[in-house]
This record gives sequence, structure tokens and C-alpha cells, in this order.
Amino acid sequence: MNRTGNGAALCEDPHDFLVIQNLYDAAVRQLTLKFNILNSEFNVLYARNPIHHIDGRVKSQSSIVAKLIKRGLPLSIESARKNINDIAGVRVVCGYIEDIYKIARVFLNQTGVRLLKEKDYIKTPKSNGYRSLHLIVEIPVSLSTIQMGVPVEIQLRTISMNMWASLEHEVSYKVNSDLVDSYKKELKACADDLYAVEERMQKICHSIRECPCKTEN
Ligand code: GTP
Ligand code: MG
Repeated sequence: MNRTGNGAALCEDPHDFLVIQNLYDAAVRQLTLKFNILNSEFNVLYARNPIHHIDGRVKSQSSIVAKLIKRGLPLSIESARKNINDIAGVRVVCGYIEDIYKIARVFLNQTGVRLLKEKDYIKTPKSNGYRSLHLIVEIPVSLSTIQMGVPVEIQLRTISMNMWASLEHEVSYKVNSDLVDSYKKELKACADDLYAVEERMQKICHSIRECPCKTEN
């Protein structure tokens, strides 16, 4: 087996992985629907959509294996379920910074949603400039014969935080690390500039929404 785990499997019978994949996929689809419903409700109540778009994915078997190898953990389905919180992942991309917190608050108040861990990389950005609100939650998933809690990693971010993270991820993973190091300061400055623009845009948005001279068209 090579260091990335390419070709290694978590179980002898490939069908066993399909069963688990289906379980985590159900959790991703349930959460995607929940956030879409919240977005529609905000539109009905406040005539605006706080969510720009939602992405969801289940980690591939090879990525799960690679992460277990990197952490020196046993390669099995049980080990993956116990140790890896982001087998199911949902990314909620919002318009404004305040939308992230509004959506997170109402979502976490919903019945059945259990918060396991929260990391606020918006209040405390990572040293490279990365910003997002990360929630690890457990939600109940009902299948034909079982109901069980499934953990999902939710990343809430704005459009510009998402743009920065996508581009930073691409350069950090694809280019040799010495070259990336020389751009670290610049990437951090870009993240901070984008955040400053978002705060300005949010202020503009507040002023326009609160303006008494607003006309309906
Ligand atoms: P993993 O990074 O998933 O092993 O877990 P962790 O426990 O270190 O969690 P953390 O919350 O820091 O990061 C989880 C996920 O957030 C990552 O898999 C990425 O999708 C995203 N993320 C975290 N830090 C960065 C970053 O510096 N740049 C980018 N582009 N994405 C990041
Ligand atoms: Mg991850």
C-alpha cells in the first residue's frame, strides 16, 4: 500500500462500504434539504435569500483511507466512523457574514440536530487568513431497518470566503511548498482585504434596507 492509501480498502466486501456511503449520503441530502427549506422560508418572511448555494459530498473511500493512514489509525469502517468527522460534508455559502450566524443559529435550534463541535474561524481566523464557521453536528437518519445518529461537518462561509478558500486550496495543494511559502503573506493580505470589503458591503446593505425612501417595484 502506498502512503496516500490509493488502492487500499476499509473492508473486504465492497458492499459494506456502499452501505456506509449510503448512510452518510442520506445525512448530506437531509441537511441540504434543511438548509434549502430555511432559505425559502427567509425569502417568504424577509424577501431575501441568505444562502447563495449549498454543496454536499461524501468522502471517497481512498480519501478516508489516506486520512486514517496520515493519522496512524486502523483501516476499518469502525475506525473511520469513530475517528473521521468529515465523511459527510456540507458547505453552505451565504451572502453576508451576518447571514452565516443567523442560519447557524436557527439550524442548531432544530429538533434532532446535536452540536458536537464548533470552530469559529471567522471570529478567530486561521493564521493563513482562512475564515469559515465549522460545525460538527449529529443528525438522525432513518433507513429501512435502523435509525442512527450520523456526524456531518458543516462549513458556513460567505461567497468571498469561499472564493479565497477554493483558490488557496488549489495553490497550496498543487504547487511546490517553497513557492507557496513566498506567497503566504500575500494570500493572508488578500483574505483580510476581502473580509474588509464584506464588512463594507454589509453596512451598505443595512443602510439600503433601513432607508425609509425604499420603493417597491
Ligand atoms: P481536516 O483538515 O479535515 O483533517 O480536519 P481538522 O480537524 O484539522 O479541521 P478543520 O476544521 O481545521 O478543517 C476542516 C476542513 O476545513 C478542511 O478539510 C478544509 O476543507 C477546510 N479548511 C481548514 N483550513 C483550511 C485552510 O487553511 N485552507 C482551506 N482552503 N481550507 C481549509
Ligand atoms: Mg476535511
